[in-house]
Amino acid sequence: MKIKGGGVILFPMPFQGHINPMLQLANILHERGFSISIIHTHFNSPNTANYPHFRFYSIPDGLPENYVVSPDPIRIVALIKSLNSNCQTPVRDCLTELVSTSLEDEHPIACLITDVLWYSTQAVADDLKLPRIVLRTSNVSSFLVMVSMPLLFQKGYLPLQDSQAENQVPELPYFRFKDVSMFKVIDVGSFFEFADTVVEGTKASSGIIFNSCEDLEEEYVTKFSLCFPIPVFLIGPFHKYFPASSSSLLPQDNTCISWLDKQQPKSVIYVSFGSIAAIEETEFLEVAWGLANSKQPFLWVVRPGVVQGCKWLEPLPDGFVEMVGERGHIVKWAPQQEVLLHPSTGVFWTHCGWNSTLESLCEGVPMICQPAFGDQITDARFVSHVWKVGIHLEFKIERGVIDKAIRRSMVEPEGQEMRDRIKLLKDKMNLCLKPGGSSYKSLDNLVSYMLSL
Ligand code: UDX
Repeated sequence: MKIKGGGVILFPMPFQGHINPMLQLANILHERGFSISIIHTHFNSPNTANYPHFRFYSIPDGLPENYVVSPDPIRIVALIKSLNSNCQTPVRDCLTELVSTSLEDEHPIACLITDVLWYSTQAVADDLKLPRIVLRTSNVSSFLVMVSMPLLFQKGYLPLQDSQAENQVPELPYFRFKDVSMFKVIDVGSFFEFADTVVEGTKASSGIIFNSCEDLEEEYVTKFSLCFPIPVFLIGPFHKYFPASSSSLLPQDNTCISWLDKQQPKSVIYVSFGSIAAIEETEFLEVAWGLANSKQPFLWVVRPGVVQGCKWLEPLPDGFVEMVGERGHIVKWAPQQEVLLHPSTGVFWTHCGWNSTLESLCEGVPMICQPAFGDQITDARFVSHVWKVGIHLEFKIERGVIDKAIRRSMVEPEGQEMRDRIKLLKDKMNLCLKPGGSSYKSLDNLVSYMLSL
């Protein structure tokens, strides 16, 4: 169904894992006939040249030039709070201008879609009488766990007690106490205030979109609707609507593909820990030796900054790269969607950011999960325990453990079982997007809803 949909203004949170799905959503809505305007911060501004069919509006964010996001969750929460307060006036000015010009335009604005973390925009939208729909870039279960954390503390489930860690949380299917302790260290007061504001902003919104599909987490969709009485649209996986499009903030190294072309089918371990997570230097060395000892070919994304305080590969022992030779390919940033699509890719060793998890599920690539914080921990639990398509490295990262996980997933029968299960999930997700599928229907509902606002 292609319709003239009017205008939509989208406002992504300026992190790679949030920009990608917001721009994918923009493409989906554009394809459905909406004209697209994107408001973005100066910090981590998207590459507008890749989107000539959108209009972009840049606003100041109060961050210093060359600001680098810390991998510390306490600082990430503080950053999101600062962005919300620094951007409230610039976003108000920008929206006021866009709303007033749209009155003379052929595309009256149907609504504003912001990342759920832009909670301060609800008041602005209310003042301008602009319906605001929120996008949660991750899945339903992790969002519900995150916003339930204050309650989990009140109930005495958190902070995590070692004696409780392995026990099941009564109210949250599949999750143990250690899975819902999303952050090793948090500033409790500040986090509660943050979670409450996100909840209030979500409840006051006109609806929520998830980059997930019902078939993946049905139980949690029902739970969510009981807690949040607003329209819910699960229309993912977003990235499968179109061939891979680039909203990458870092240049992607395409030598990955020519290197993969030379490898055997399903023989390569692809390793990447996303755009924010960091590891200690000692862990980095265990990863390196685990890969070297596995004797499998590997493609390893070492993002500059992934080892804090290091520029790039300098912690590796002298001669490591030469010793590994052609069997290993190390890059700063990869064209990840293409890598996962490549027939040589056998396993993805991931931090389980939701985009990475979804991209891997959609291409049928089993995972080795090494989550760092937040939704990565609950995603890893779903991958290893619910869908059973990955191995969770839950304890100390050590070369022997890594070597074993690689053998289990690549060589042993367990690996084949995971591949069989993930193939079924992949097919299921493809069906979601086809006529009659849950995401297809949900997108139709979303479009009708937006036109009715
Ligand atoms: C962050 C959070 O950490 C994550 O838990 C949350 O779900 C979203 O926001 P990030 O850590 O970057 O995201 O991970 P992820 O969600 O996996 O997103 C990374 C994106 O960057 C993916 O779309 C991936 O395809 C892309 N990517 C990653 C590349 O293009 N090249 C790479 O080398 C690595």
